[in-house]
Amino acid sequence: MSEPGSRATVLFVDDEPLVLQGLQRMLRPERDRWDMHFAASAEEALRLMAESPFDAVVSDLRMPGMDGAEFLACVMERSPQTVRIVLSGEMDRGLIFKTVQCAHQYLAKPCQPDALKSALERALALRRMMGDRRLKSLLPQLSSLPSLPALYFEILSEIQAPNASFKRVGELIARDVSLSAKMLQIVNSAFFGLPRRIADIAEAVSLLGFDTVKGLVLSVKVFSQFEVGRIPARWLEELWRHSSQVGLFARGIALSEKLPRRSLDEAFTAGLLHDVGKLIFAQNFPDAAVEMIASAATRPLWEVESERFGVSHAELGAYLLSLWGIGEEVVAALAHHHRPPEAGTPGRVVGVVYAANALEHRLGPGDAPGAPAAALGLEVCRRLNIAGRISAWEAICRKLSAEERLHA
Ligand SMILES: [Fe+2]
Ligand SMILES: [Fe+2]
Repeated sequence: MSEPGSRATVLFVDDEPLVLQGLQRMLRPERDRWDMHFAASAEEALRLMAESPFDAVVSDLRMPGMDGAEFLACVMERSPQTVRIVLSGEMDRGLIFKTVQCAHQYLAKPCQPDALKSALERALALRRMMGDRRLKSLLPQLSSLPSLPALYFEILSEIQAPNASFKRVGELIARDVSLSAKMLQIVNSAFFGLPRRIADIAEAVSLLGFDTVKGLVLSVKVFSQFEVGRIPARWLEELWRHSSQVGLFARGIALSEKLPRRSLDEAFTAGLLHDVGKLIFAQNFPDAAVEMIASAATRPLWEVESERFGVSHAELGAYLLSLWGIGEEVVAALAHHHRPPEAGTPGRVVGVVYAANALEHRLGPGDAPGAPAAALGLEVCRRLNIAGRISAWEAICRKLSAEERLHA
């Protein structure tokens, strides 16, 4: 694994010499920042990995000898911190799903140079986070990190297909009854301001757009995959209510600020997933999580977590999302939803999500049982450049919440 600050090491694996040559040509301009290696088989790739581990591997799926799914499983075992990306023209869903547990990201061939570069950039942004010593020491203790939900992969491969259709994405979602119900509930909330009630998933998909749908599917499935175990079910239910409301608040605020469509989707996704790190703590350290939730009755949970583990659910959630290849704005919004970055001016989505979370604590029926409301710190608002906007944003969220209650 390369040191943060040095060139990141990336290994490409494909049995097709033309594909490897194409990648080599396409990525030549990136030589200064990435140290790239190319292997014509999984076996050769494993030999190279034995000499020195890589920061990221980008692998084809269908290859003679060891296939991509087996290869990525080996990488996961031998070098768990290597980011694993699939780049494949595979249409066989069975083979795609075999890799779900072992791949962090999935890209469909043919892949535009920009899409590949930005997927790699996002994945390698992890190295910056890994420079954070506290996170580095916590990661080896995590036995399970939620994997990307299989349905998310399926929808992603449909969306990335050249003839992607709302109808087919709608059909995939409709197979999952509880996801469909949650999705219709959110689309029909007052926050989306749609003129009539939508009952058809394909129509919901076309109204929301693929990016909003992706965020929604990801968060609903991550919550439903979670095993409650020792954590009170009521806590999990409340966390989902709070998270979906923060997603809607963040989207409503972004809309009122006339931010571009892309920022609306980012604000929504980040709002829905902002507390996902709490699930990671609960899953990996159930005893500690129960204790931390209890002691958070008098002070913010993120403070209790930081004291005990060195990092809070904010950084842990951001780490998971960057591993999944979610865009940098969303990752930054997760990382800073309680504390602004120490340096630099964060993007607008960061401020929107920070405010949406704090406003939901203020306006909603209450946080996870016993937790005190997150304060809207004036100093934080100044640093995020949103101090002058808070009262307008609060008015919007109040109005929408009131409409929502009438709606329900
Ligand atoms: Fe939080
Ligand atoms: Fe929150």
